Amino acid sequence: MSAPGSYCRPRDRWGTFAESCAELSEGPALAIADARVLRLHRRVGQALKAKGVRVLPVTAGESAKSLARVEALARAAADLPRGATVLAIGGGTVGDLATVFAHLFKRGVGRFIQVPTTALAAVDSSVGGKGAVNVRGVKNALGVFHFADEAWLCPELFSTLSEAQRREGRFEALKMAVTLDARTWAAWRAHPPAEQALIREARALKDQVVLRDPYETKGLRVVLNFGHTFGHVLETVTGFRLRHGEAVGLGMLCALDVGCALRATPREVTEEVETTIFGAGRGEARARLARALQRTSAAQVARLLAADKKSSEGAPRMVLLHGLGRWTTATVDRATWEHCLRAWKQGFQWGEGEG
Ligand SMILES: NC(=O)c1ccc[n+]([C@@H]2O[C@H](COP(=O)([O-])OP(=O)(O)OC[C@H]3O[C@@H](n4cnc5c(N)ncnc54)[C@H](O)[C@@H]3O)[C@@H](O)[C@H]2O)c1
Repeated sequence: MSAPGSYCRPRDRWGTFAESCAELSEGPALAIADARVLRLHRRVGQALKAKGVRVLPVTAGESAKSLARVEALARAAADLPRGATVLAIGGGTVGDLATVFAHLFKRGVGRFIQVPTTALAAVDSSVGGKGAVNVRGVKNALGVFHFADEAWLCPELFSTLSEAQRREGRFEALKMAVTLDARTWAAWRAHPPAEQALIREARALKDQVVLRDPYETKGLRVVLNFGHTFGHVLETVTGFRLRHGEAVGLGMLCALDVGCALRATPREVTEEVETTIFGAGRGEARARLARALQRTSAAQVARLLAADKKSSEGAPRMVLLHGLGRWTTATVDRATWEHCLRAWKQGFQWGEGEG
């Protein structure tokens, strides 16, 4: 028998929450659930109650990703056996917190089920086994790998998402297509997929990478961080007011510019990707990037980049695009990213507005 949470292929079950919950096997179970989802979807709480599942509501957001919250969950669950089933019901923050809990509680719970309720969690964070908490504003400073045994994808739960929340899911899905699969990228450009198809295809793309490098030891999983180096900087300097998916969308613009500056990314690739990701909102995206960085000094950015897990000797190691579906990593020197930073603050692309 393998250790709790060790890699397994994702088993996705599509259907309403009530249907999946009704088939939950008997035995002690605990649901760590986004309080907002419980309020918006009363049937979730009813289905859990019918199965005798204990529910611990959590207020979602980056502040949920803390060791203090893990400890509070452990106190509330102390009487449960280690073989219990844990369900994570919520977006990426609840999922990340619950993953850490599932891994640490009595050295690993018996069964772990992810029920993603945001588009971002459905396409990305509920696949791949990663969970993490933040420490003093340093994003994901403490983390674990603990793979879910199952994921329940319940379309009715996505009905209450705003357009901005759906866009965040699309950004993460586009990230996977543009880095991993030129054919999917071209197909999505030609015919933007409906939400459920996007979720299925993005999950499959991510799983292909995770399967080949489940514990990030082979340098392959790193591709999933495209857009994340500056995405994390943007989240931090805005005090997390810029949400993760939005930050990754803008972070991809940063990665494209840095790639151009280093002559790794052809200009026409940058143009195609930027136009596809943001469409008519491209100018507004550049303006949002400029606003987010307005009061941020190069020294502050340097400190945040040095704290990034992928940095080496203070210099960020970034995923860059060579072409569509082709990527590489490069260590980025300060002169290059500072040059880009000056352009971003003025709402420009790298190389634009320099006469
Ligand atoms: N572990 C991973 O591999 C991985 C990958 C990508 C992102 N992440 C993490 O995911 C987090 C972001 O996830 P997120 O954007 O889902 O954030 P989130 O969990 O904070 O959810 C965003 C908001 O949506 C609300 N919400 C959740 N479900 C809803 C629903 N069905 N209807 C209406 N509102 C709903 C939440 O209450 C919250 O206010 C970040 O912390 C990021 O670091 C992790």
